[in-house]
Amino acid sequence: QSIISSIDNDSRCLRRISEHSGTKAFAGRGQQLYINIPHVIVMVGLPARGKTYMARKLSHYLNWIGIKTRVFNLGDYRRKAVNEFKDHNFFKTENEDALKLREKCANDALQDLCNWIQNEGGEVGVYDATNSTMARRSFIYRKIVGDMQFKCFFVESICDDPKIIEENIFDVKVNSPDYKEMNDEDAFNDFMLRIAHYESQYQTLDEIHEESLSFMKLYNAGNKVVINKSDGHIQARIIYFFMNIHINPRNIYLSRHGESLLNAVGRIGGNADLSDRGLEYSKSLSKYIESQHVENLRVWTSYFKRTMQTASHIDAPQERWKALNEIDSGACEELTYQEIADKFPAELAARDENKYHYRYPRGESYEDLVARLEPVIMELERQKNVLVISHQAVLRCLLGYFFNKSAEDIPYIKVPLHTIIKLTPMAYGCHVEYIPLGIKAVDTYRPKPKISGTVEAQHSSSDEFFEDYLY
Ligand code: ATP
Ligand code: F6P
Repeated sequence: QSIISSIDNDSRCLRRISEHSGTKAFAGRGQQLYINIPHVIVMVGLPARGKTYMARKLSHYLNWIGIKTRVFNLGDYRRKAVNEFKDHNFFKTENEDALKLREKCANDALQDLCNWIQNEGGEVGVYDATNSTMARRSFIYRKIVGDMQFKCFFVESICDDPKIIEENIFDVKVNSPDYKEMNDEDAFNDFMLRIAHYESQYQTLDEIHEESLSFMKLYNAGNKVVINKSDGHIQARIIYFFMNIHINPRNIYLSRHGESLLNAVGRIGGNADLSDRGLEYSKSLSKYIESQHVENLRVWTSYFKRTMQTASHIDAPQERWKALNEIDSGACEELTYQEIADKFPAELAARDENKYHYRYPRGESYEDLVARLEPVIMELERQKNVLVISHQAVLRCLLGYFFNKSAEDIPYIKVPLHTIIKLTPMAYGCHVEYIPLGIKAVDTYRPKPKISGTVEAQHSSSDEFFEDYLY
């Protein structure tokens, strides 16, 4: 199934054909078919302004919605090239040897990024470096747009709030491999001197001299945003994403509904009430949430009775989302997996072969779910403390986003009943805690069978949960 999306009517010659299977081809000047031009997102800003954080988060998001994205971080290239990094003096502009080496690393990283797009089907490459002078940006633009004929979008993070900068340095920089030999205070002071060297050269994206470039500037972690010459739907999505994310501390609680009457008899889908054990879970869940004293908690449920009943004792504002409804299993609704194997053996086998892309007859696939969950993710990014009460397949897709899981892994993520999953976003990752409330429930997990289309005895899903995740 080939998806040909909107045809760009600017006349650049490199266009890409994207196949559902992931096979990609490039067509040269004069050829007819074609679609999205590859993008390079160029981060701009002084050190400790959240560029890496933003680059990695963007890459998660774009990969999750099916756009093949990769970050090229210049710091990694520099650390590989320099055996002994001592301190901030390395970043002085008078340090000519270091300057040459830094330029070489910058060019190598950019070249690797271009090669990845050209040879490995990359769609969006994120060039994560300070790129803090006009001359540097002009060089990058000429290479990306002039030579490679990709699109180029600059994203600058500007921050003059000393509190944010200090927190950022203590959050991530003092633990960087650059400072493994230094204590936190010395590392902090050294990093401040490093910033000063960059400040002496730094030129912000200039709305007059660089007005022909496509760019966005974020001030103080998104308090103000300036957009210049946004070009096309990929850039529009990136802008919208960066306008929604924030760095305030908060928790996201995820829970499936309590055990339902259909769960109890091994049937999928439907819109059943909770079983007695499910009702017990709903009371226990509300007690747990009360004990947490969560500030301004919002509770989101699907439109199915089992999630609304699970939320019914919780004293917090509630919102219903159709997008949080369980995967629609179409012709297989309310069947057991064994009944599906008996009635539709070819369907179950096809699902086992490629569970993420498989779409139930008159129903949905996991891929469809991700598409309908995109607004949920965007709103989750925007919100503070949220409890999401939803369903097995839906929560797998949400966890797939937070833990950067592949399309192959998402449909097999373990999300047991009667267990709260508490996520705490961190500087470069996500802390996770599983909190089983100790109320028995059936196990609805169907592992990938050794022989497609067969139904094996179900495993206990009490193992192989996520650990804290670092980007
Ligand atoms: P360097 O140039 O040294 O690589 P950097 O700009 O890439 O630095 P990060 O390593 O990404 O900086 O800094 C991470 C910290 O930035 C995190 O603590 C995160 O909370 C914070 N942060 C994320 N986004 C922003 C933003 N828009 N403005 C300021 N800080 C941010
Ligand atoms: O069994 C509970 C359930 O939420 C069903 O309603 C749904 O069809 C199923 O889980 C999704 O899990 P899987 O994709 O593994 O069949």
